[in-house]
Amino acid sequence: MIIEGKNILLHGADYNPDQWLDCPDILAKDIELMKKSHINCVSVGIFAWSRLEPSEGVYDFDWLENIINELYKNGIYSLLATPSAAKPFWMTEKYPEVCFTDINGDQHHGGVRANFCMSSPVYREFVRKMDEALSERFGKNPAVIMWHIGNEFTSTKCYCDKCQHNFREWLKAKYGDIETLNKAWWTDFWAHRYTNFDEIHPPMPTGEPDMASLNLDWMRFTEDNTLDFIKMEVAAVRKYSSVPTTTNLMGFFEYNYTKLADAVDYISWDSYPFWHSGDDIKTAAETACTHDYMRAITKDKPFLLMESTPSSVNWSPVSKLKAPHVHYTASMQAIAHGSDSVQYFQWRKSRGSNEKFHGAVVDHFGGENRVFNDVRELGEKLEQYSEIAGSLFKSNIAFLFDHENRTAIKLSQGPRNCNDGYMELLFNFHAALWEKGVNTDIINMTQPFDGYKVIIAPMIYMMRGGVDEKIREFVKNGGICIMTVQSGWVDENDLSYLGGWPHGLMDVFGIWDEETDALWDNEFNSIVPNADFLSGEYQAERLCALIHANE
Ligand code: GLA
Ligand code: ZN
Repeated sequence: MIIEGKNILLHGADYNPDQWLDCPDILAKDIELMKKSHINCVSVGIFAWSRLEPSEGVYDFDWLENIINELYKNGIYSLLATPSAAKPFWMTEKYPEVCFTDINGDQHHGGVRANFCMSSPVYREFVRKMDEALSERFGKNPAVIMWHIGNEFTSTKCYCDKCQHNFREWLKAKYGDIETLNKAWWTDFWAHRYTNFDEIHPPMPTGEPDMASLNLDWMRFTEDNTLDFIKMEVAAVRKYSSVPTTTNLMGFFEYNYTKLADAVDYISWDSYPFWHSGDDIKTAAETACTHDYMRAITKDKPFLLMESTPSSVNWSPVSKLKAPHVHYTASMQAIAHGSDSVQYFQWRKSRGSNEKFHGAVVDHFGGENRVFNDVRELGEKLEQYSEIAGSLFKSNIAFLFDHENRTAIKLSQGPRNCNDGYMELLFNFHAALWEKGVNTDIINMTQPFDGYKVIIAPMIYMMRGGVDEKIREFVKNGGICIMTVQSGWVDENDLSYLGGWPHGLMDVFGIWDEETDALWDNEFNSIVPNADFLSGEYQAERLCALIHANE
């Protein structure tokens, strides 16, 4: 239950009233329209730092409190955000270290968002103080049902001296001594041997950009740094409050999101499929796969659809409207895959600066138009379906999708540097079951296999965390594991396994993968099975493994 004792599917939107504080008529109209469209919650304060702390150390929460209380009086809950995603200019001008330094070593000015330095003690302190102050003021307000931590944490990497220093410390903690790191990273090739940790820089075009092991650890460090930042924020809002926390993720966009599951209570995500931009069935299938991934990150709770658009996406190459009924269908797809909410970015279209044409519930027109009516219709339905709130379901088939593996494939320098095909393979396999109405989970190599009957493991190039042993046990206990080409090639540092592929599983699968041929796009080969149970000819594309059956 998101709200103790209440069966409720959330229907809400990012609400950014800080843009309209001098328009009381608009704020009043918002509440009227929210009620009409069966909106029962809003996410507030997400990018409101310059209004919440207009100058250093001066907090102004009155406007926010008035709005939150007024909404509550009208039956609308708030998911209160911490504003850490966007820094105010007074801060970036006075404390440039809060801004990130890019891969070329240039420190940025203020502006944009989700681009701060996670290692900056100054930024962390500003955020901690802000979050604690919000917690103190709103933590016990019954209107606030959830903390929305930051916004779309990405692995935007900062290359400042502090981040570089922390990276070296992280490496020291991981490897202990430089010789162990040298071995793990295979540094004797190209004279890359380090004599001490201080010689290590992150992968950068001005230094060593390509080495897979260095890149992988830099990615892991950045993720851990982000996780630590989120945990700091969670601790700060928890100071005076016990309501649950979430942070909005971005599906398969990037980042090893499974790591975040322990930091927050609810997983939520922002879904922006490009409807009507090609093959809608394919778009629906990929969206289903992403919902399955987000749901399977936390198995014991529903996930939340934190953002979607009721209309068009402003950053897609062409902003298509949603055709009639597509809003309902797409929203119900999320619910059917385990979401307990449908929320939008944003409630009312901004007038200027950025994203002013992104589809919102209330258009610049300001009243009840087609999109508004679509939202209202969905809101009515969600109320009728509220009894399913909190329900969970169990899949007995899981796909092994692993962000580290995906990154390693990208960095692998062969066999296909043009479109490695990993995501496409996952989506294609998933779509085959989805079309038959079979529900599946998407899990990574560290998640338990308990309760599954089938594990489908496309291209497990990197095998980490003892996944080979897990597969062996799983199969021994009667599970079915389906594996593909390019599997079991390297360890977690991208060191090739010696002694044959798929490493550790040659006896389990009864094969030896001797060589792999890579095909150009539109070049095909054929598979002609020589077996009683399978006949015909099958087309092979991209990668062809020459495998031998083990006698
Ligand atoms: C993301 C962000 C929102 C908004 C939307 C629409 O999901 O979280 O703040 O920018 O995209 O573009
Ligand atoms: Zn930094």
